[in-house]
This record gives sequence, C-alpha cells and structure tokens, in this order.
Amino acid sequence: QHLGEHPKSGGNKCPTFEAKLLHIESRPGRKSKNSGCDDLEFFMRCEVHISDTDIFINSLKRVADDVRTIPEEKVPWFPRKIRDLDKCNLLITKYDPDMDQDHPGFSDPEYRKRRCFIAELAANYRQGEPLPRVEYTPEEVATWKEVYRTLRTIYPDLACRQFLGGLQQLERECGYGEDSIPQLREVSAFLREKTGFQLRPVAGLLSARDFLASLAFRVFQCTQYIRHASAPMHSPEPDCCHELLGHIPMLADKEFAQFSQEIGLASLGASDEDIERLSTLYWFTVEFGLCKQNGTVKAYGAGLLSSYGELIYALSNEPEYKPFNPEETAIQPYQDQTFQPVYFVSESFEDAKIKMRRYSSSIQRPFSVRYDPFTCSLEVLDQPSKIQHALGQMRDDLKILQSALEKLG
Ligand SMILES: [Fe+2]
Repeated sequence: QHLGEHPKSGGNKCPTFEAKLLHIESRPGRKSKNSGCDDLEFFMRCEVHISDTDIFINSLKRVADDVRTIPEEKVPWFPRKIRDLDKCNLLITKYDPDMDQDHPGFSDPEYRKRRCFIAELAANYRQGEPLPRVEYTPEEVATWKEVYRTLRTIYPDLACRQFLGGLQQLERECGYGEDSIPQLREVSAFLREKTGFQLRPVAGLLSARDFLASLAFRVFQCTQYIRHASAPMHSPEPDCCHELLGHIPMLADKEFAQFSQEIGLASLGASDEDIERLSTLYWFTVEFGLCKQNGTVKAYGAGLLSSYGELIYALSNEPEYKPFNPEETAIQPYQDQTFQPVYFVSESFEDAKIKMRRYSSSIQRPFSVRYDPFTCSLEVLDQPSKIQHALGQMRDDLKILQSALEKLG
C-alpha cells in the first residue's frame, strides 16, 4: 500500500513511501469505557523500511490521537533444530567440474560422472540417517595415498601442536593412514566422542550462511569426493583430502571445537554484511590461519594443511604476514584460486580464539540464542522464563564445580 498525503494534511505534500499492512484489528478504546465516547483503538502490524519509519509514524499521528509503536526487526531465517540443517544446502557451483573450465576434471567425463554419483548421496541424505559409505576406486585411493604421504612428511615441522595431536589420535583410533580413505561414518563417530562434533555429507562448496549455521549445532558439512588424479597437490574446491586432513584433526581439539561453534552461533540471523565479514575471518583463520608456537610460526588453517604447495609457501619467507586483528582481517580481500597474498599470524592459538570470540560477540542482533545440547536445538532467549530456566541449569552446574573444588580441598 502507498501511504502518503492524507486529506487532513491540508494539501501539504508528504513524501510517498511504501508500507505493507500485515494485520489490522479494531477494539473499543480504553478511554471510552469511562468517558462514554466511542473512541476506537487500532492494532496494526506493518512492514516498512527502517528509513521510512519516522515519516510513517508522523503520518499516523496526523489522523490518530495517540500512536504507540513496538519495533520488530526482521532477521534472515536460520535453523532452530538440527533437522533444519536438511534445508541448509545452498551450493556455490562456480568451481565444480561441470561449471569451471579450469577444473582439472572438466574434460574427464568419467570423473564428472563419479562426482554426480557422490553428490547424489549427499543430496539424498537426511539428518539422523547413517552417513553414506563410498567404495573408493583404486585410482582414488592412489590419489589419497600421494596426498597423505607428501603432507605427512612436512606436518611435524609446519603444523601446530593441536593439529599434530589430533592427527596422531586419528591414526591410532580411527584408521587414518595412506592405504585407505577414511569413511565419514567412522570419522564422525570418532569426533562425537572427542568433541561432540558430527559430520554431514555435502555435495560441494556450500554458501557461507549455510555452512556457518551448521557449525552452531557442532555439525561439520563434509565433501566425500576426491580431487582429480591429475592434480593431487591442489584442488580448486573442498574435497575429502581437504576435509579429512585439513579440518578433522583440528575439530578433535576441544577448544577449537568450542571456537568453531561460537562462530556458527554468531552467524545465525546475521545480516548479509556480517556473514560476509564472518566468512572472511573464517577464511583467514580456520582455513588459512597461522599462529606462533614456541617462537616459530605454525599452520592451523585447513586450507594450508591440505595443500602441499601452499603450506610450504605460507611458511617460507615469501608471503606477507600481518598480525591477526579481526577488524582488519574481516575486510581483507581473499584469493580462492591461487595462494593468499597475505597471511594473518596470531601470537598464539589461544590469542586467535580470544580475539575471534570478542569479534563474534560484537555482532549486533535483536535477540540472543543459546544452544541446548540435550535437544540439539537453538533456544531464542526472548522470554524471562527461558532466561530463568537457563540460569537454573547454570546454578546446578556451578554446584557441581563447587563440590568438586571442596573435594580437592
Ligand atoms: Fe575448508
């Protein structure tokens, strides 16, 4: 509807703007009960652009004795239950082998057919079902072997302590090694025991909003296909080498898991601009982050830890280093086709987490959310009773800690 000039305004031109009337309801005015007048109250729900609200309210004031408003901000949809992740599946297809002429698999019809088959498994997956198994071909296992062997030799010198610890556990307890590609089902069970993270298959590169939202539930969306055999050292898009070698060892670390979930929680219902900034930060930390450990720079980013060439390059004297500072990092342009022109180094792994947390909590949203691990759902804390209930749970937890401290003397 167009709300503009009103007859009562006496011909003074009002700016014209658009407002959507969603609901209108009339009732006898509270004043009229006593005074006997037949005043009416109108309750309206309207959708109007934030820049037009003042004009809108002033227009109403010309025709009504009293106008009271309750603002309600519109936020983008986000998943509330873990099952809602079935809807978080918007793919970015610009680098997949059917669309990108530079993809090493573009002119290999067999490879593209195989990719479609594996993509189909992910597309048909529903939350809670057993994760699909892929019988990898000898050629695929050979690619994995080459990637694993090459990277494994340089990890001890270049990867951070948390990554090495996670990888050793995976090798001991989850069958990691160069001879077979680990199955998502086993890896997911392993992670659940370590940090409560679980995997979900995804057909390709996911939109930032959907990818980040799944982290809020401690769900990591994981590709299951492998890069083309002709380019084992580089992949233009995520593949199982990137996920299983780059991300999974880090997700076995409790602190890192917590940090990842916090980024996810901060993304829920955030504006497109905030999602862009958060995903840039994610890029320069979780994907390409470096940190100092015992006086030397080490890699903790999965994009580095799954790419032989870039890992060596990032830790050589060639690239530019900048200290990690979320405000600056969030607006740094990034490269997803070649090596990064700049890497952000944090003083320590903990320093990156603290700064990132501070940044995430500064994102403005008109509501607060809390993850409920018992129901795997998100609770929007919009009523005092919900806050009281959460506080009660926290008190019980504190009692346990207090009694533990007493027992320790
Ligand atoms: Fe990644």
